[in-house]
Parts: sequence; C-alpha cells; structure tokens
Amino acid sequence: MSMSRGTEPRTTAGAGWNAAVGSTVNPSDVRGGTLRLVSSADVDSLDPARTYYVWVWLLQRMLNRTLMAYPTDPGPAGLIPVPDLAEGPGRVSDGGRTWTYRLRAGVRYDDGTPITSDDIRHAVQRVFAQDVLPGGPTYLVPLLDDAGRPYPGPYRTDEPLGSVRTPDERTIVFHLRRPFSDFDHLMAQPCTAPVPRRADTGADYGENPRSSGPYRVALHRPGRFLHLERNPYWDRATDPVRPALPDRVELTIGVDVDELDERLIAGEFDINLEGRGLQHAAQDRVTADGVLRSRTDNPRTSFLHFVSLQPHIPPFGDVHARRAVHYAADKILLQQARGGPVTGGDLTTALFPPRLPAHQPGLDPYPTGPDLRGDLDAARAELAAAGLPDGFDAVIGTQRGKFRLVADAVAESVARVGIRLTVKELDVASYFSLGAGHPETIREHGLGLIVTDWGADFPTEYGFLAPLVDGRQIKRNGGNWNISELDDPRVNDLIDQSLHTTDPAERARQWGAVERLVMEHAVILPLVHDKTLHFRNPWVTNVYVHPAFGLYDVQAMGVVAPV
Ligand code: ARG
Repeated sequence: MSMSRGTEPRTTAGAGWNAAVGSTVNPSDVRGGTLRLVSSADVDSLDPARTYYVWVWLLQRMLNRTLMAYPTDPGPAGLIPVPDLAEGPGRVSDGGRTWTYRLRAGVRYDDGTPITSDDIRHAVQRVFAQDVLPGGPTYLVPLLDDAGRPYPGPYRTDEPLGSVRTPDERTIVFHLRRPFSDFDHLMAQPCTAPVPRRADTGADYGENPRSSGPYRVALHRPGRFLHLERNPYWDRATDPVRPALPDRVELTIGVDVDELDERLIAGEFDINLEGRGLQHAAQDRVTADGVLRSRTDNPRTSFLHFVSLQPHIPPFGDVHARRAVHYAADKILLQQARGGPVTGGDLTTALFPPRLPAHQPGLDPYPTGPDLRGDLDAARAELAAAGLPDGFDAVIGTQRGKFRLVADAVAESVARVGIRLTVKELDVASYFSLGAGHPETIREHGLGLIVTDWGADFPTEYGFLAPLVDGRQIKRNGGNWNISELDDPRVNDLIDQSLHTTDPAERARQWGAVERLVMEHAVILPLVHDKTLHFRNPWVTNVYVHPAFGLYDVQAMGVVAPV
C-alpha cells in the first residue's frame, strides 16, 4: 500500500476546491498504515497543560482524552463538546455554579493503569502551578480559586484544591465561584486531560507523558521528529470521538516552509500538521493547476485581524476621533495588505466569526462607501465633531512582517483626512505579552492604534469576545487582550448575564447587544476574518477542517492506497 502512495498520477482530480470545509473528503473507516505529517516548527509542549498552539491542541486529540471533547464533525455540531472520558455532559446545579461529571468505566492509560477522577483533579490543580508549568490557558483559575487563600498548585502544597471534589474514583464535582455556562468547553481543553500524580515530573512531564488517547509517544527528538504508536490500552468501545485509523503517525519537524510545501505536494508527506497554509510560491503553483487546486481548502482560521483604538491615548478619548479612523479606512487596501481574499481573509465590518450563532451579517456601523475605499466626508465630519478639523498626529503600534503591512495601509488610509500616523514596531516574540499586550507599553509609546489579531480559545461568543472587551479582564501586568481597556458596565453586565444563561437563543441575543455596544465605542476596527490555503493529498481519508479549531482534524485521518 505505502508503495503506491505519492505516485498517483497528477491527472486524477482531488475532491475539489474547499471540499473539506463543512464536509468530509474521502470518508473511510479503513485502518492501518502510517500517517506522515510535517511541520516547520516543533510542538510548543507535549505536556497537555503547557501547550497553546492550535495545531498542538489538535495533535493532543490523538494522545489525550478529556471529560468533554469536540466531536469528529465538519458541521455546526463540531462546535459543541460531547462526552469523551465522561459518561455525559456536566450536570449543572446550584444555579450554574456546580458541575458534576462521571467517568466512563474501564478507561486506562497507556501503562494499563486506570484513569480516575483524582487524575482529572490533579490536571486541574496543575493549571494553578503557572510558576512551574507556564504556557497553557488559565481560564480555570479565577473560576476555582479562593481569592482570600490562593491555591499555589500541587507542587507547593499537599492540600488539594478545595473547589474540586472527588467523592469516588469515577465522580468529579467542580464548585465554581460564579456561574459559567461554557464550562463544558473548558473541560475539552487539553490542560484538563488526566495526569496521574505518580507520573507527574512537573516541568519535565512533557518529556514522558502518559496518554489516555488512542496513541502514545514512541519517540520525540526535539526539533527533528515525533513518532506516535498505538496505545494498547485505549479501548475503541469507550471512545465516541476518535476513529484512530493509522497504526503509526510520523511527524517530521523542522522543514523549511517552501521546501515543506514542495515535498508535501510531491507526496513525500501526507499533510502539513502545522497548518500555516501554503506559502506564496506554492500558492501560485496550486491555484494555476486545476488538479492541484482540487486538492486545496481555503477555510477561515477563525482569527479576526483588527486594529485596536485606545481611548486612554489622546486624542482617542473622543469617540469621534475613533470613528474618524473607522470611516477613513480603505478596506480594499487593508485586505490587500493582509494578503488578499484567498490567503488574507474575508472583509468584515463586525466582530464575531460567521460560524458563531450571534454573528450579525448586516452589522456595519461605519460604512466605507460603495467601493469600500473609505467614506472621507463622514470621516471629516467626525474630525470636526472632535474639534480636530485639520486632523491630528498619532502612533500606530505593530510588529515587522505581515502586521507592518497592515499598519502602513492604515496610515495611508487615514492620511487622506489629515490623520498623520507614525509607525512603531515592537518586538515580535514578546508582542502579545509585553508589547501590545502590556498596558504600560501602550502608554510609554503613546500607541493610540495597535495592529493585532485574535482567535478564540473555545468556540463560543464568550470565548471569542470577552477577553477583548470585558473590563474585568484587563491584565495590567501583560498578556492583556483588552488592549483598549474598555470597561463599560453595560458590556460587563451583559457578559455576566450570558454566563448565567443556558438558552442559546437568549445568549446570542445578549452577545449581539455586546457586539453593537463595542462597535458604538469604536475601539475595535475589524478588518478581515483570516483565511489560509491548505493542501490535502488525495490518499488521505476523513479530511475536514474542524469548525472549532479552523484547521484539519488530524486525529480523524487515515490513509489508503489510491484506487
Ligand atoms: N487566543 C490566542 C490568540 O489569539 C490563541 C488562540 C489559538 N490557540 C488556541 N489554542 N485556540 O493568540
């Protein structure tokens, strides 16, 4: 079988452009073979508590199970977690504050030992040890901690976290400080995958992790390769999510991006796991070739590219100054700066990704004219209303590379109405922690405008918008995503209501109201919903872009000889 792979005649068309977006290409349950993956960079961590890369979260689905998990489903159902290690979704009581899960019977680690509720509690406790295990999401901490007596994580005390109880080996009860209607989503994040205390080596755990999923690490040579083999103790009958088709998975790490594309298209690798998408050279090649084009997908990544406007930096304290920027934006120029409609993204005048229920297709509070090149009269009227009829000087923060191109396009746009922008480049590596993400850096450089992007850590309205606009989520010490420091009680109240509300239609209504308020404040200038161009080889089965992650769901894939 493996001999014929990669030698398929180039004349055989693939399933079609975008065929793996919203549906599955080559559905199959044929087992066996080796899935050959490739990436330019190494995993951020194999410790499930220490990873944040989306593609590593998808890889984690092969290695680890969680109480809840996103189903193998290319449609809207893919956004809603289903029971994985748990027998059912969380049972909610105490007005949304108590969530109870029961583990399935007979689930085991790759060393044959049983998975217990205490192992899930241990995983949750590890999230609190940010001094030892930084890198992963921390949504659980404020929900489960006692502000009066902060829990320091399992390495500094033997006392367990009081808000999580394990009345027996299969039952786990979470007592939240406040209702959190998205809790099932947090139970699907890799950081909650079970970790047995006896195997936990703290900061080094990623070097020899236990696994609860269908595969385990056979060999990891950092920067070179990662090989997975079957976990002999994983039981298909207990796992409603994972088809687990290949016998082996071999990831080649560290191939330069252009060479990677060439070897992928030549069939030497099956799929690019990293999901950056094809680079310029390969993009031109596949789009010009009908056969290769039929093997590509062009999904939204679910990242929003936007410009943040800071009311605490003059003259942006005046909403009219902010609105002037919105009206003056040349959307076509900005989309081109982003990479155009295929590898840049879809233009948007609102915030929510289209797949979320609260998405409002017609929301366009600052229309930029029929040609989308900017409404300069409206922009000048806003400047006059701000008492700045001749425009003003301001600084736009960005980083070198792709973000720089967007900053230049913003400057070119607003120069037409007399807004003179200076571009300030901040360090790339620390951009989100200490640059754009640090309120002091914003003040130090007077960054009235900031170029940035954002993708949700879980696919709900709260997951997408709350970190950007919730006044209680301003992070003074860095890693801040509410860059404009919006703290509007009406917004905050609606967010709290949504966390108490379980009815999806009512929640969508509440979030629609939040989105309109945020747009009224004009603190976020939305540009595009990012898109990427992915290549799938025709012998790979069960290929689809997972709606919760915006990348291929690698755990679903198999390989067969071409027919
Ligand atoms: N929210 C982070 C950002 O926008 C990470 C998003 C992607 N990672 C993830 N695991 N969802 O940069």
